[in-house]
Amino acid sequence: MPKVHRLGILTSGGDCAGLNAAIRAVVHRAIYGYGWTVHGIRDGSLGLMNRPVEHQELTLEFFNSNLLRMGGTMLGTTNKGDPFAYPMPDGSLKDRSGEFVEGFHMLGLDALIVIGGDGSLKILDKLCKQGGLPMVGIPKTIDNDVHLTEFAIGFSTAVNVVVDALDRLQPTAASHHRVMILEVMGRDSGHIALSGGIAGGADVILIPEIPYSLDGVVKKIEEVRRAGRNHALVVVAEGCRTEEGLTPTVTWGGQQARYGGIGHSLSEQLNSRVNAEVRVMVLGHLQRGGQPSMQDRLLASAFGVHAVDLVAKGKFNRMVAWQDRGVVDVPISKVVGGARHVEPDGALVRTARGLGTYVGEETATEAAG
Ligand code: F6P
Repeated sequence: MPKVHRLGILTSGGDCAGLNAAIRAVVHRAIYGYGWTVHGIRDGSLGLMNRPVEHQELTLEFFNSNLLRMGGTMLGTTNKGDPFAYPMPDGSLKDRSGEFVEGFHMLGLDALIVIGGDGSLKILDKLCKQGGLPMVGIPKTIDNDVHLTEFAIGFSTAVNVVVDALDRLQPTAASHHRVMILEVMGRDSGHIALSGGIAGGADVILIPEIPYSLDGVVKKIEEVRRAGRNHALVVVAEGCRTEEGLTPTVTWGGQQARYGGIGHSLSEQLNSRVNAEVRVMVLGHLQRGGQPSMQDRLLASAFGVHAVDLVAKGKFNRMVAWQDRGVVDVPISKVVGGARHVEPDGALVRTARGLGTYVGEETATEAAG
Protein backbone atom coordinates (compact mmCIF):
# COMPACT_ATOMS: atom_id res chain seq x y z
CA MET A 1 0.00 0.00 0.00
CA PRO A 2 1.31 3.47 -0.80
CA LYS A 3 1.79 5.94 2.05
CA VAL A 4 -0.61 8.77 1.28
CA HIS A 5 -0.68 11.89 3.40
CA ARG A 6 -1.38 14.63 0.92
CA LEU A 7 -3.95 14.18 -1.82
CA GLY A 8 -4.34 16.68 -4.67
CA ILE A 9 -7.57 17.25 -6.56
CA LEU A 10 -8.36 19.31 -9.66
CA THR A 11 -11.26 19.86 -12.05
CA SER A 12 -10.46 20.11 -15.75
CA GLY A 13 -12.41 20.88 -18.94
CA GLY A 14 -15.82 22.55 -19.15
CA ASP A 15 -17.64 22.92 -15.84
CA CYS A 16 -20.93 21.19 -15.09
CA ALA A 17 -23.30 20.66 -12.20
CA GLY A 18 -22.10 18.15 -9.60
CA LEU A 19 -18.39 19.04 -9.54
CA ASN A 20 -18.59 20.53 -6.06
CA ALA A 21 -20.47 17.45 -4.86
CA ALA A 22 -17.60 15.29 -6.16
CA ILE A 23 -14.97 17.48 -4.49
CA ARG A 24 -16.92 17.26 -1.24
CA ALA A 25 -17.11 13.46 -1.49
CA VAL A 26 -13.35 13.22 -2.04
CA VAL A 27 -12.60 15.50 0.90
CA HIS A 28 -15.03 13.71 3.23
CA ARG A 29 -13.68 10.25 2.35
CA ALA A 30 -10.02 11.32 2.51
CA ILE A 31 -10.38 13.04 5.88
CA TYR A 32 -13.00 10.91 7.65
CA GLY A 33 -11.84 7.62 6.14
CA TYR A 34 -8.07 8.00 6.05
CA GLY A 35 -7.04 11.17 7.89
CA TRP A 36 -5.24 12.66 4.86
CA THR A 37 -5.02 16.31 3.91
CA VAL A 38 -6.55 17.35 0.60
CA HIS A 39 -5.21 20.13 -1.58
CA GLY A 40 -7.43 21.70 -4.22
CA ILE A 41 -5.51 22.83 -7.31
CA ARG A 42 -6.83 25.97 -8.96
CA ASP A 43 -7.95 26.16 -12.59
CA GLY A 44 -7.14 22.63 -13.68
CA SER A 45 -3.59 21.86 -14.76
CA LEU A 46 -2.79 25.60 -14.74
CA GLY A 47 -2.64 25.65 -10.94
CA LEU A 48 0.30 23.25 -10.91
CA MET A 49 2.09 25.03 -13.78
CA ASN A 50 1.81 28.51 -12.27
CA ARG A 51 4.39 29.80 -9.78
CA PRO A 52 3.69 29.99 -6.98
CA VAL A 53 1.61 26.86 -7.36
CA GLU A 54 -2.05 27.83 -6.96
CA HIS A 55 -3.78 25.64 -4.41
CA GLN A 56 -5.74 25.63 -1.23
CA GLU A 57 -6.06 23.08 1.51
CA LEU A 58 -9.62 21.79 1.55
CA THR A 59 -10.80 21.18 5.09
CA LEU A 60 -14.18 19.97 6.29
CA GLU A 61 -15.15 23.56 7.10
CA PHE A 62 -15.53 24.28 3.40
CA PHE A 63 -18.24 21.70 3.12
CA ASN A 64 -20.57 22.51 5.98
CA SER A 65 -22.32 25.08 3.79
CA ASN A 66 -24.18 24.58 0.55
CA LEU A 67 -21.42 23.43 -1.82
CA LEU A 68 -23.10 20.07 -2.41
CA ARG A 69 -25.99 21.98 -3.92
CA MET A 70 -24.03 24.47 -6.00
CA GLY A 71 -23.21 24.39 -9.71
CA GLY A 72 -19.80 25.25 -11.14
CA THR A 73 -16.54 24.24 -9.52
CA MET A 74 -15.14 25.87 -6.40
CA LEU A 75 -11.64 25.14 -7.75
CA GLY A 76 -12.05 26.79 -11.14
CA THR A 77 -11.23 24.96 -14.36
CA THR A 78 -9.98 25.41 -17.89
CA ASN A 79 -10.74 23.76 -21.20
CA LYS A 80 -7.84 25.43 -22.98
CA GLY A 81 -4.09 25.14 -22.81
CA ASP A 82 -2.83 21.57 -23.24
CA PRO A 83 0.38 21.55 -21.10
CA PHE A 84 2.15 19.59 -23.87
CA ALA A 85 1.47 22.40 -26.37
CA TYR A 86 0.67 25.44 -24.28
CA PRO A 87 -0.18 28.60 -26.26
CA MET A 88 2.31 31.33 -25.25
CA PRO A 89 1.65 35.11 -25.57
CA ASP A 90 3.98 35.32 -28.61
CA GLY A 91 1.83 32.75 -30.44
CA SER A 92 4.28 29.86 -30.04
CA LEU A 93 3.39 26.53 -28.40
CA LYS A 94 5.49 25.41 -25.45
CA ASP A 95 5.74 22.02 -23.75
CA ARG A 96 5.04 22.88 -20.09
CA SER A 97 4.47 19.32 -18.91
CA GLY A 98 7.65 19.43 -16.79
CA GLU A 99 6.29 22.43 -14.86
CA PHE A 100 3.14 20.46 -14.06
CA VAL A 101 5.14 17.54 -12.67
CA GLU A 102 7.41 19.94 -10.76
CA GLY A 103 4.34 21.67 -9.26
CA PHE A 104 3.03 18.33 -7.99
CA HIS A 105 6.33 17.70 -6.18
CA MET A 106 6.55 21.28 -4.88
CA LEU A 107 3.23 20.70 -3.12
CA GLY A 108 4.50 17.43 -1.70
CA LEU A 109 1.52 15.52 -3.06
CA ASP A 110 1.34 11.73 -2.91
CA ALA A 111 -1.48 11.27 -5.43
CA LEU A 112 -3.83 13.26 -7.64
CA ILE A 113 -7.55 12.93 -8.36
CA VAL A 114 -8.59 14.47 -11.66
CA ILE A 115 -12.23 15.23 -12.44
CA GLY A 116 -12.55 15.63 -16.20
CA GLY A 117 -14.04 14.55 -19.51
CA ASP A 118 -12.30 12.22 -21.94
CA GLY A 119 -10.10 14.99 -23.41
CA SER A 120 -8.86 16.14 -19.99
CA LEU A 121 -8.41 12.61 -18.69
CA LYS A 122 -6.31 11.74 -21.73
CA ILE A 123 -3.98 14.72 -21.24
CA LEU A 124 -3.75 14.33 -17.45
CA ASP A 125 -3.14 10.59 -17.74
CA LYS A 126 -0.27 11.27 -20.17
CA LEU A 127 1.14 13.97 -17.88
CA CYS A 128 0.97 11.77 -14.80
CA LYS A 129 2.46 8.75 -16.58
CA GLN A 130 5.32 10.90 -17.90
CA GLY A 131 6.10 12.17 -14.41
CA GLY A 132 5.34 8.89 -12.63
CA LEU A 133 2.55 10.62 -10.67
CA PRO A 134 -0.11 8.38 -9.09
CA MET A 135 -3.49 9.46 -10.49
CA VAL A 136 -7.16 8.44 -10.43
CA GLY A 137 -9.82 9.93 -12.74
CA ILE A 138 -13.49 10.81 -12.19
CA PRO A 139 -15.61 11.28 -15.36
CA LYS A 140 -17.66 14.43 -15.76
CA THR A 141 -19.20 16.01 -18.81
CA ILE A 142 -22.68 17.12 -19.76
CA ASP A 143 -22.02 15.41 -23.12
CA ASN A 144 -21.97 11.98 -21.40
CA ASP A 145 -19.57 10.71 -24.04
CA VAL A 146 -16.89 9.07 -21.87
CA HIS A 147 -16.36 5.40 -22.70
CA LEU A 148 -17.05 2.59 -20.23
CA THR A 149 -19.30 4.62 -17.95
CA GLU A 150 -23.05 4.77 -18.41
CA PHE A 151 -23.15 8.20 -16.80
CA ALA A 152 -20.72 11.06 -16.27
CA ILE A 153 -21.29 13.80 -13.70
CA GLY A 154 -23.27 16.71 -15.16
CA PHE A 155 -25.29 14.86 -17.78
CA SER A 156 -28.42 14.33 -15.74
CA THR A 157 -28.66 18.00 -14.73
CA ALA A 158 -28.10 19.13 -18.34
CA VAL A 159 -30.88 16.83 -19.55
CA ASN A 160 -33.19 18.19 -16.85
CA VAL A 161 -32.51 21.70 -18.19
CA VAL A 162 -33.46 20.55 -21.71
CA VAL A 163 -36.66 18.95 -20.41
CA ASP A 164 -37.51 22.08 -18.43
CA ALA A 165 -36.92 24.20 -21.55
CA LEU A 166 -39.25 21.98 -23.61
CA ASP A 167 -41.87 22.15 -20.84
CA ARG A 168 -41.71 25.93 -21.13
CA LEU A 169 -41.54 26.07 -24.92
CA GLN A 170 -44.49 23.76 -25.52
CA PRO A 171 -47.24 26.08 -24.20
CA THR A 172 -45.89 29.10 -26.05
CA ALA A 173 -45.47 27.05 -29.24
CA ALA A 174 -49.06 25.87 -28.86
CA SER A 175 -50.38 29.37 -28.17
CA HIS A 176 -48.78 30.73 -31.34
CA HIS A 177 -49.09 27.65 -33.56
CA ARG A 178 -45.32 27.61 -33.98
CA VAL A 179 -42.59 25.14 -34.65
CA MET A 180 -39.99 25.63 -31.91
CA ILE A 181 -36.45 24.47 -32.50
CA LEU A 182 -34.30 23.92 -29.41
CA GLU A 183 -30.55 23.71 -30.06
CA VAL A 184 -28.73 21.82 -27.31
CA MET A 185 -25.08 21.13 -26.48
CA GLY A 186 -23.28 17.79 -26.62
CA ARG A 187 -20.36 18.41 -28.96
CA ASP A 188 -20.15 15.45 -31.40
CA SER A 189 -22.54 13.28 -29.42
CA GLY A 190 -26.32 13.33 -29.30
CA HIS A 191 -26.89 11.95 -25.79
CA ILE A 192 -28.30 15.22 -24.38
CA ALA A 193 -30.56 15.79 -27.39
CA LEU A 194 -31.84 12.22 -27.41
CA SER A 195 -32.57 11.87 -23.70
CA GLY A 196 -33.87 15.43 -23.32
CA GLY A 197 -35.94 15.16 -26.49
CA ILE A 198 -37.62 11.91 -25.47
CA ALA A 199 -38.34 13.09 -21.92
CA GLY A 200 -39.56 16.48 -23.17
CA GLY A 201 -41.85 15.05 -25.84
CA ALA A 202 -40.08 16.36 -28.96
CA ASP A 203 -41.54 15.47 -32.34
CA VAL A 204 -38.16 15.63 -34.07
CA ILE A 205 -34.76 14.85 -32.53
CA LEU A 206 -31.68 15.37 -34.66
CA ILE A 207 -28.34 14.00 -33.47
CA PRO A 208 -24.88 13.95 -35.08
CA GLU A 209 -24.80 10.15 -35.17
CA ILE A 210 -27.80 9.75 -37.50
CA PRO A 211 -28.12 11.52 -40.86
CA TYR A 212 -31.43 13.29 -41.40
CA SER A 213 -33.18 14.87 -44.34
CA LEU A 214 -35.13 18.10 -44.44
CA ASP A 215 -37.86 16.18 -46.24
CA GLY A 216 -38.03 13.86 -43.24
CA VAL A 217 -38.34 16.78 -40.80
CA VAL A 218 -40.99 18.50 -42.93
CA LYS A 219 -42.93 15.25 -43.32
CA LYS A 220 -43.02 14.76 -39.55
CA ILE A 221 -44.18 18.32 -38.88
CA GLU A 222 -46.93 17.95 -41.49
CA GLU A 223 -47.98 14.63 -39.98
CA VAL A 224 -48.25 16.24 -36.54
CA ARG A 225 -50.41 19.02 -37.95
CA ARG A 226 -52.60 16.59 -39.88
CA ALA A 227 -53.17 14.72 -36.65
CA GLY A 228 -54.69 17.92 -35.21
CA ARG A 229 -51.80 19.47 -33.28
CA ASN A 230 -51.02 23.06 -34.23
CA HIS A 231 -47.41 23.12 -33.07
CA ALA A 232 -44.28 20.99 -33.02
CA LEU A 233 -41.09 20.71 -30.97
CA VAL A 234 -37.75 20.04 -32.63
CA VAL A 235 -34.55 19.29 -30.67
CA VAL A 236 -31.28 19.57 -32.57
CA ALA A 237 -27.84 18.73 -31.20
CA GLU A 238 -25.23 21.41 -31.82
CA GLY A 239 -22.90 18.94 -33.57
CA CYS A 240 -25.42 18.05 -36.33
CA ARG A 241 -24.52 18.79 -39.91
CA THR A 242 -26.69 20.69 -42.34
CA GLU A 243 -28.00 18.74 -45.33
CA GLU A 244 -25.03 20.13 -47.23
CA GLY A 245 -22.70 18.45 -44.72
CA LEU A 246 -21.54 21.56 -42.82
CA THR A 247 -21.45 21.84 -39.03
CA PRO A 248 -22.01 25.51 -38.13
CA THR A 249 -19.58 27.00 -35.62
CA VAL A 250 -19.04 30.26 -33.77
CA THR A 251 -15.81 31.84 -32.64
CA TRP A 252 -15.71 33.88 -29.46
CA GLY A 253 -13.01 36.57 -29.23
CA GLY A 254 -10.54 34.83 -31.54
CA GLN A 255 -10.62 31.60 -29.51
CA GLN A 256 -11.04 28.12 -30.87
CA ALA A 257 -14.31 27.66 -32.79
CA ARG A 258 -17.23 26.09 -30.92
CA TYR A 259 -20.30 24.36 -32.34
CA GLY A 260 -23.31 26.62 -32.67
CA GLY A 261 -25.80 27.78 -35.29
CA ILE A 262 -27.41 24.58 -36.55
CA GLY A 263 -30.74 25.65 -35.01
CA HIS A 264 -30.88 28.89 -36.99
CA SER A 265 -29.68 27.23 -40.15
CA LEU A 266 -32.42 24.62 -39.80
CA SER A 267 -35.08 27.27 -39.14
CA GLU A 268 -34.11 29.18 -42.30
CA GLN A 269 -34.53 26.06 -44.34
CA LEU A 270 -37.75 25.00 -42.65
CA ASN A 271 -39.46 28.39 -42.70
CA SER A 272 -40.11 28.26 -46.43
CA ARG A 273 -41.17 24.62 -46.32
CA VAL A 274 -43.65 24.30 -43.49
CA ASN A 275 -46.88 26.18 -43.15
CA ALA A 276 -45.99 27.59 -39.71
CA GLU A 277 -43.73 30.13 -38.13
CA VAL A 278 -40.45 28.51 -37.07
CA ARG A 279 -38.55 29.91 -34.07
CA VAL A 280 -35.26 28.96 -32.48
CA MET A 281 -33.92 28.84 -28.96
CA VAL A 282 -30.28 28.09 -28.23
CA LEU A 283 -29.99 26.67 -24.74
CA GLY A 284 -26.21 27.08 -24.46
CA HIS A 285 -24.43 27.27 -21.12
CA LEU A 286 -27.67 27.12 -19.13
CA GLN A 287 -27.18 23.36 -19.49
CA ARG A 288 -23.99 23.50 -17.47
CA GLY A 289 -25.15 25.61 -14.57
CA GLY A 290 -27.63 25.45 -11.75
CA GLN A 291 -28.17 23.05 -8.90
CA PRO A 292 -27.07 19.48 -9.60
CA SER A 293 -29.88 16.97 -9.97
CA MET A 294 -30.34 14.19 -7.44
CA GLN A 295 -28.70 11.76 -9.87
CA ASP A 296 -25.62 13.94 -10.34
CA ARG A 297 -25.23 14.38 -6.57
CA LEU A 298 -25.50 10.64 -6.08
CA LEU A 299 -23.05 9.86 -8.87
CA ALA A 300 -20.60 12.51 -7.68
CA SER A 301 -20.75 11.17 -4.13
CA ALA A 302 -20.27 7.53 -5.18
CA PHE A 303 -17.46 8.44 -7.59
CA GLY A 304 -15.64 10.60 -5.04
CA VAL A 305 -15.67 7.92 -2.33
CA HIS A 306 -14.57 5.17 -4.74
CA ALA A 307 -11.78 7.31 -6.21
CA VAL A 308 -10.28 7.91 -2.76
CA ASP A 309 -10.54 4.20 -1.95
CA LEU A 310 -8.62 3.43 -5.16
CA VAL A 311 -5.85 5.81 -4.06
CA ALA A 312 -5.76 4.09 -0.67
CA LYS A 313 -5.40 0.70 -2.37
CA GLY A 314 -2.66 1.99 -4.67
CA LYS A 315 -4.76 1.39 -7.81
CA PHE A 316 -3.70 4.17 -10.16
CA ASN A 317 -4.22 5.24 -13.78
CA ARG A 318 -7.82 4.15 -13.36
CA MET A 319 -11.13 5.94 -13.81
CA VAL A 320 -14.18 5.34 -11.66
CA ALA A 321 -17.24 4.46 -13.71
CA TRP A 322 -20.95 3.69 -13.35
CA GLN A 323 -21.93 0.30 -14.72
CA ASP A 324 -24.88 -1.96 -13.94
CA ARG A 325 -26.24 0.09 -11.05
CA GLY A 326 -22.94 0.43 -9.23
CA VAL A 327 -19.48 2.00 -9.15
CA VAL A 328 -16.56 0.15 -10.73
CA ASP A 329 -13.17 1.26 -12.01
CA VAL A 330 -11.57 0.82 -15.41
CA PRO A 331 -8.11 1.58 -16.86
CA ILE A 332 -7.94 5.16 -18.15
CA SER A 333 -6.09 3.89 -21.23
CA LYS A 334 -9.32 2.14 -22.26
CA VAL A 335 -11.56 5.20 -22.00
CA VAL A 336 -9.53 7.82 -23.84
CA GLY A 337 -9.23 8.10 -27.59
CA GLY A 338 -12.46 9.61 -28.78
CA ALA A 339 -16.03 10.14 -27.71
CA ARG A 340 -18.64 7.50 -26.89
CA HIS A 341 -21.45 8.14 -29.33
CA VAL A 342 -25.15 7.33 -29.38
CA GLU A 343 -25.68 3.92 -30.93
CA PRO A 344 -27.98 4.45 -33.92
CA ASP A 345 -29.71 1.12 -33.23
CA GLY A 346 -29.62 1.49 -29.42
CA ALA A 347 -32.52 1.31 -26.98
CA LEU A 348 -33.16 5.06 -26.75
CA VAL A 349 -33.22 5.58 -30.53
CA ARG A 350 -35.67 2.67 -30.79
CA THR A 351 -37.74 4.21 -27.99
CA ALA A 352 -37.91 7.56 -29.76
CA ARG A 353 -38.87 5.91 -33.06
CA GLY A 354 -41.43 3.80 -31.23
CA LEU A 355 -43.02 7.02 -30.00
CA GLY A 356 -43.30 8.24 -33.58
CA THR A 357 -40.50 10.79 -33.19
CA TYR A 358 -38.40 11.54 -36.27
CA VAL A 359 -34.79 10.77 -35.31
CA GLY A 360 -33.25 10.92 -38.77
CA GLU A 361 -33.28 8.39 -41.50
CA GLU A 362 -33.64 4.71 -40.72
CA THR A 363 -31.36 2.27 -42.49
CA ALA A 364 -33.09 -0.43 -44.59
CA THR A 365 -32.30 -3.04 -41.90
CA GLU A 366 -33.72 -0.87 -39.08
CA ALA A 367 -36.87 -0.12 -41.08
CA ALA A 368 -37.35 -3.85 -41.71
CA GLY A 369 -37.18 -4.35 -37.93
O1 F6P B 1 -18.07 19.53 -23.46
C1 F6P B 1 -19.00 20.32 -22.78
C2 F6P B 1 -19.48 21.45 -23.65
O2 F6P B 1 -20.46 22.16 -22.91
C3 F6P B 1 -20.02 21.03 -25.00
O3 F6P B 1 -21.31 20.47 -24.95
C4 F6P B 1 -19.92 22.33 -25.75
O4 F6P B 1 -19.81 22.11 -27.15
C5 F6P B 1 -18.65 22.94 -25.21
O5 F6P B 1 -18.42 22.34 -23.95
C6 F6P B 1 -18.69 24.43 -25.06
O6 F6P B 1 -17.47 24.87 -24.58
P1 F6P B 1 -17.20 26.37 -24.12
O7 F6P B 1 -17.80 26.54 -22.76
O8 F6P B 1 -15.73 26.49 -24.11
O9 F6P B 1 -17.86 27.26 -25.12
